[in-house]
Amino acid sequence: MILSIESSCDDSSIAITDIKTNKLIYHKKISQELEHNVYGGVVPELAARLHIEALPKILEECKKYFKDLKAIAVTNAPGLSVTLMEGVTMAKALSLSLNIPLIAVNHLKGHIYSLFIEKEEWLPVTVLLVSGGHTQIIEVQSLNDMKIIGSSSDDSFGESFDKVAKMLGLGYPGGPVVQEYSQKGDKERFDFPIPLRQSPKIEFSYSGLKNAVRVQILELGDLTIQDKYDICASFQKTAVAHLIMKLKKYFKQTIPTKMAIVGGASANLYLRDEINKLCKPYSIEILVADLKYCSDNAAMIGRIAVEQYKINDFVGIDEIDIIPRVKKL
Ligand code: KG4
Ligand code: ZN
Repeated sequence: MILSIESSCDDSSIAITDIKTNKLIYHKKISQELEHNVYGGVVPELAARLHIEALPKILEECKKYFKDLKAIAVTNAPGLSVTLMEGVTMAKALSLSLNIPLIAVNHLKGHIYSLFIEKEEWLPVTVLLVSGGHTQIIEVQSLNDMKIIGSSSDDSFGESFDKVAKMLGLGYPGGPVVQEYSQKGDKERFDFPIPLRQSPKIEFSYSGLKNAVRVQILELGDLTIQDKYDICASFQKTAVAHLIMKLKKYFKQTIPTKMAIVGGASANLYLRDEINKLCKPYSIEILVADLKYCSDNAAMIGRIAVEQYKINDFVGIDEIDIIPRVKKL
């Protein structure tokens, strides 16, 4: 079995995965959403302090499996440096004391392997990764052959939901509440500009859209609840239209046989619907992770670690680096 640890942002999570069968033997996550809610976003130092409390609590429940462990896996990139540090420190201590190897996991690749939790992997696949930190189209050939086709040059898709929610006083995380408000709103009421509409490049940008929403809120002055519903619906429609437009551009150069959506924001039902509509005429098969594995979790870190274990992709405890930002996969 492999014990995996995830602490790249505001979720403390540990999983235990069976190497032979991919079965998830144990999985627990303690989310810090409530603690960060009042600030409208994640406060890194607070997040680190909460990991220090939560991770040992979860680990306590895993002690009975220690004798069966063959490796310790941990997210070391990308993420918040102070929170990554907590998971990596715990992983190093476990690796040393149990005398088993350490596996360093890239969090973004982990999200891709959320598709294969308790399953066999099926590749190649083109992935749309939409999370709080990233918006990317990635061509995945194999574990170590992944190519980023397009990324965001500023805010990410999920982050733009968080920022709109903050402007409307709806707390953190913004994604679920903006989706809920959208269901009661008129998505045609506000005509927000679709980002990078004229650009031929496959790249994303959400800061301009965020600003357009800010200006609209200022113009309206005192907001009624219906105004908030309509802003959310119009914003969500535009945020998703931007992804769809760039995917259409990508399909002009490559039509994948399989397309997957992963990351915390892949839970968005309007996005799922629009991607389904887009892919239908091309007969592209659409795949998504189980809703419970869309947001950050250690089960996806354990699943990819199984593949890394099979090819002896280990790292020394003095060699493992914390890498807050990554350019390549
Ligand atoms: O993958 P994740 O848990 O953390 C990162 O790796 O960033 O993603 C969290 C992000 C947050 O920005 C959250 O607002 C967004 O995913 N999110 C959503 C939805 N559920 C979560 N965004 C849009 N619609 C949703 N239903
Ligand atoms: Zn994530």
